[in-house]
Amino acid sequence: MGGEVKWLRVAAAGEVATGSMKAVEAGGREFILYHLDDGSWCASDPLCTHAAARLAEGWLDGATVECPWHGGRFDLRTGAGVAGPVVEDLRLYEVRLESDDVLVGLAVV
Ligand code: FES
Repeated sequence: MGGEVKWLRVAAAGEVATGSMKAVEAGGREFILYHLDDGSWCASDPLCTHAAARLAEGWLDGATVECPWHGGRFDLRTGAGVAGPVVEDLRLYEVRLESDDVLVGLAVV
């Protein structure tokens, strides 16, 4: 219950404009960092769950990311696949800001 979380710095807040996303790396892993229109942040795994397209090459539309390959769409509030051929949800990560640093939280297993 409430397992430990390891926080990795993935970017400076100024690197990702509001309404955009960016592929980032930290701790030997890749993530996509999203800075949504409403100013909130979220992060996900880098690859579409359908056939592993790089989602950072797709489109961000509000709080939804669209895959560049087959029109798959994921809701970034929940990770749920909401359109296209996706059957598996997208894994999301917690994000927090510490002054200008953006951190992504990983559950420690
Ligand atoms: Fe993303 Fe097919 S690889 S919808």
